[in-house]
Amino acid sequence: MHLSADHIKSLHRYELRILQSIEYLMGRFSWVPVEEIIQNSRFSAGETQFRLSKLMEKGMVKFTQVPYPGYTLVFNGYDTLAVSHLVKKGVISALGSRIGEGKESLIYEALGTGPVILKLHRIGQRSFQTVRLGRRYLPEKGHCPWVIASHFSAEQEYLALHALERSIHVPVPLAINRNVIAMTYIAGERLSDCTLADPGYVLKNILSQVRTAYAAGYIHGDLSEYNIMYDGEKIWIIDWPQWVPPSHENASEILGHDLETISAFFRRRYKIISDIEEIMNLVTG
Ligand SMILES: Nc1ncnc2c1ncn2[C@@H]1O[C@H](COP(=O)(O)OP(=O)(O)O)[C@@H](O)[C@H]1O
Ligand SMILES: [Mg+2]
Repeated sequence: MHLSADHIKSLHRYELRILQSIEYLMGRFSWVPVEEIIQNSRFSAGETQFRLSKLMEKGMVKFTQVPYPGYTLVFNGYDTLAVSHLVKKGVISALGSRIGEGKESLIYEALGTGPVILKLHRIGQRSFQTVRLGRRYLPEKGHCPWVIASHFSAEQEYLALHALERSIHVPVPLAINRNVIAMTYIAGERLSDCTLADPGYVLKNILSQVRTAYAAGYIHGDLSEYNIMYDGEKIWIIDWPQWVPPSHENASEILGHDLETISAFFRRRYKIISDIEEIMNLVTG
């Protein structure tokens, strides 16, 4: 089930409290027993059960009987905690519709002081759940792997955007909470979806930005026509969670792959031939 803006907007504050309790208790339980939720939230058993059933209807919480009866957050619930936090802090005042869905993220429009994008990082819940079934206590203190992985992914992207926002064209990161980043909206199209009047200039501009990012310590790691946007004036590089530093053991391979992908796109679409070795030297020189 998708996270629906309406579900977040209509969230009752008791439901938010229950989500917070489950999140907290997931530090100790893979599946949180209802008695623990009652104790932590300080609601009556009846109120707790009622709110839990609402949260399950909204696909924010999951219940299992096996290995023992208990509740856990799923991505919709975790995303909801993050988005609610951003609303409370005044980063956004309204949540719009979902405009994108990648392999490991959901993209929403929102309204802050201007148009805002929310990127909800979602790394690997399904794969982790099967592995962890049957284990009551976590092997280490803290949260389950998909929570940690998704939070980490958002943090990595935030770091890169923050470091690069003044030197190249990336969305300006406005705030981060849990697995969610709020960033400025780019009113443009992906290179994959537009026809460039001056592709030679655009390619040069991209390489110059890649060079500046490299000098600042950031190799994108997933550069392609899908992660570059053009607004008719500026060229923007988005989607940075997988960046690596030039000191990374596979740095030259990763940078080489980025440059190959871009050069292949311009060769295919615009018949511009570039010499990989030459552009590699240009970027790292
Ligand atoms: N700041 C932004 N402004 C406008 N559109 C964006 C922004 N960030 C992402 N998008 C849109 O959402 C899509 C997916 O975002 P992206 O960061 O590339 O995540 P994914 O990892 O899912 O590919 C992009 O291709 C773009 O169309
Ligand atoms: Mg992308």
